[in-house]
Amino acid sequence: MKAKIIGTGSYLPERVLTNQDLEKMVDTNDEWIVSRTGMKERRIAGPEEFTSDMGAAAARAALADAGISADEVDFIIVATITPDYLCPSSSCLIQTALGAKKAAAMDVQAACTGYIYALAIAKSFVETGLCKNVLLIASEKLSSVTDYKDRSTCILFGDGASACVVSSDAQKKGHLISSICLASDGEQSDLIVIPSGGCRTSAQHYLKMAGNEVFKHAVRRMESACRECLNLAGLKETDISWLIPHQANIRIIDAMAKRFEHLPPERVFKTVHKYGNTSASSVGIALDELLKQEQIQEGEKILLTAFGGGLTWGAALLTASGESA
Ligand code: COA
Repeated sequence: MKAKIIGTGSYLPERVLTNQDLEKMVDTNDEWIVSRTGMKERRIAGPEEFTSDMGAAAARAALADAGISADEVDFIIVATITPDYLCPSSSCLIQTALGAKKAAAMDVQAACTGYIYALAIAKSFVETGLCKNVLLIASEKLSSVTDYKDRSTCILFGDGASACVVSSDAQKKGHLISSICLASDGEQSDLIVIPSGGCRTSAQHYLKMAGNEVFKHAVRRMESACRECLNLAGLKETDISWLIPHQANIRIIDAMAKRFEHLPPERVFKTVHKYGNTSASSVGIALDELLKQEQIQEGEKILLTAFGGGLTWGAALLTASGESA
C-alpha cells in the first residue's frame, strides 16, 4: 500500500500586517526587513480566531480538494507549537468542528518541521493499513507568542494553516510520498524557545530566538535533509521539478537553493514575502498554492524541506501520480 496526498488546502487570516505597520510598533524599517528577510507582509489572526479555527478552515478546503467527507477520515494529526490549549488537543477541537466522528486525533510538536513530521506519521499509518484516510493539519497562531516589542523576532512571524489528506485510495490521483527523512538535535534546544505552557515555567510567554545561530543551522540542515531524502529515493537534484523550503527567511531559502546548483532558481517556490514565517504551516501553505497554480505532470517530483526549534529538521519527496496506489 502506498500513501499519497490526494488533496491540499490552506487558510490565511484576513488581517495583513505590513512592514509599514511594524515601523510604527518597533524601531525598524521596510528596507531592513526586506533586505534581511524578504518579507513584505504577513497575516494575523483575529482576537477570536484560534489555531483550531484556522486549522478547521484549511482542513475543509483539503477535504473538498480530495473529494472526501469528514466521516471518511480515520485519523486527524495537527502539527502546531501554538495549540489552543495544552489539553484538550487542537486535533480534538478540529475533529468536533468538522464532525469527523470516527477519526482518532492527536497533536504533534516539531516546531517549524511539524508538517514533515506529521507527513511521516500519516504515511506510516496509511502504509501499515492502520488508516485509509489521514487528515494532516498544520496550524499556527504565532502572533499569540510573539513579543511585539522585540524587533528581532516580531518582524518574522505570521499566522496561518495548511492541510492535506494522505490516503491509500487507489482510485484517486495525487502525490505519492516517495521518501521522507527526519532529524533532531536537542543539544541546540536553547536556540528557539517558548518557555511557557510546560511544567518548568508558567509566565514566560514570548518566543525567544538566537537568530544568527539559527540561520546557520537552517541552511545546513535543510540541505542535508534534502540530499538524504533524494538518496533514499535513489534520485538526483536534477530529478526535482520544485523545491519548497520552509519559508523562514528569503536569505535562508536563497542560500540553501544556491547549494542545489542544478535547480533553476524559479523552481524554488516562495511565499515568504506575503505570509512571513508561519512555522509548521509554512511548507503546507506553499504546497497548496503551488498545486493550485501549476499544472504538475505525472511523475514530476516536489521536494519539501523544513527546519525548526528543537532543533528539528526533515524533508519529504512527493511524486505526482495518477496510477493506482
Ligand atoms: N530592524 C532593524 N534593525 C534590527 C532589527 C529590525 N527588525 N532586528 C535586529 N536589528 C539589528 C540588530 O539589533 C543588530 O544591530 P547591532 O549590530 O547594532 O547590534 C543588527 O540589526 C544586525 O542584527 P543581526 O541579528 O546580526 O541581523 P541578521 O542579519 O542576522 O538578521 C534575522 C536577523 C533574525 C533576520 C536573521 O538572523 C534570521 O533570519 N535568522 C533565522 C531566523 C529564523 O528564520 N528562525 C526560524 C527558523 S525555523
